[in-house]
Amino acid sequence: MSVDLKTKYLGLNLKNPLVASSSPLTGRLDFLRQLEDNGIGAVVLPSIFEEQIEHEQNQVLQLHQEGAETFPEALGGYFPAMEDYNTGPDTYLEQIRAAKEALSIPVLASLNGVSASGWVDYAKQIQDAGADGLELNVYFIAADTEESSFQVEWRYLNLVAAVREAITIPLAVKVHPFFSAPAHMSKRLVEAGANGLVLFNRFYQPDIDLEALKVRANVQLSTSSELRLPLRWIAILRGRVAASLAATSGTHTAADVLKLLFAGADVAMMASALLRNGPTHVRTLLSAISTWLDEHEYVSVEQMRGSMSQQNCEDPAAFERANYMAGLTSYTSNFEWA
Ligand SMILES: Cc1cc2nc3c(=O)[nH]c(=O)nc-3n(C[C@H](O)[C@H](O)[C@H](O)COP(=O)(O)O)c2cc1C
Repeated sequence: MSVDLKTKYLGLNLKNPLVASSSPLTGRLDFLRQLEDNGIGAVVLPSIFEEQIEHEQNQVLQLHQEGAETFPEALGGYFPAMEDYNTGPDTYLEQIRAAKEALSIPVLASLNGVSASGWVDYAKQIQDAGADGLELNVYFIAADTEESSFQVEWRYLNLVAAVREAITIPLAVKVHPFFSAPAHMSKRLVEAGANGLVLFNRFYQPDIDLEALKVRANVQLSTSSELRLPLRWIAILRGRVAASLAATSGTHTAADVLKLLFAGADVAMMASALLRNGPTHVRTLLSAISTWLDEHEYVSVEQMRGSMSQQNCEDPAAFERANYMAGLTSYTSNFEWA
């Protein structure tokens, strides 16, 4: 029997809940086509960054003010390198148009920034280029000892409200899990205009190279062990916020996807698993998910989604403090204690 994998995300109809999240893989048209051929439900393009948009706006301004002869050097070494990653603001819009033309699945663009300023107008250009939705990644490190949690939260909410005002297409907000009150903050993000929450942004922690004595920023791919953080919060938020819920960080296997759906995710996003295994991994996962659901007598994703959320599961306390105490007491070590 065939299982119905259809799902809705941000009001968009997806043929299944697998989404390729923002990464270099979704920045290339050939890979996007392969992802679609292998059955992916939707794709999120790599982010375009606030700094890139502002840099370009400043350059245009300077050109007007000073003339082409005095065109300034790039402000830093980042911009040419970034444009290898996401093509830069000019051609990013072209990239959206090309993806929309090549694919029939929903295409989401991604904006990455932290301040509600002029660059936000670019969201409208993304909409005009044909994106089916926009993911706003607020990647902010609250390192200022003078900036309170209240101010940091307002920064997020102002930005979401400003982007919401600029566009009419669906807006998802990708955030980190480090708020004092993640459930309340999620609700406020939705009130500010988010149609969906993408949980969670994975911060790339800097390392120190001991020989060179330099700070290194190299990306490490995730493993399934990182799934539990989004799993918990999606289970807690399911039914409590009026928004779509997308899981990101640690989705690698069919079991990972099934767990997220049981917890209440509308979609399961993947970057590391696709970067490791390539686009054919999508087909493998879809087949394994259908087989599992069929063997367990589910006819659709709709039927099982959220049935293990905190509101619906037999043991709601398992998602909170009780789970911590139970975890500690259940630990057994192979080490022979003296
Ligand atoms: C090489 C690489 C590039 C990424 N680029 C972006 C990006 O441009 N914008 C964004 O929101 N997330 C970006 N991400 C984060 C992923 O979309 C995803 O949220 C994160 O890797 C966690 O999911 P995973 O465990 O499936 O990898 C990137 C991840 C990787 C590994």
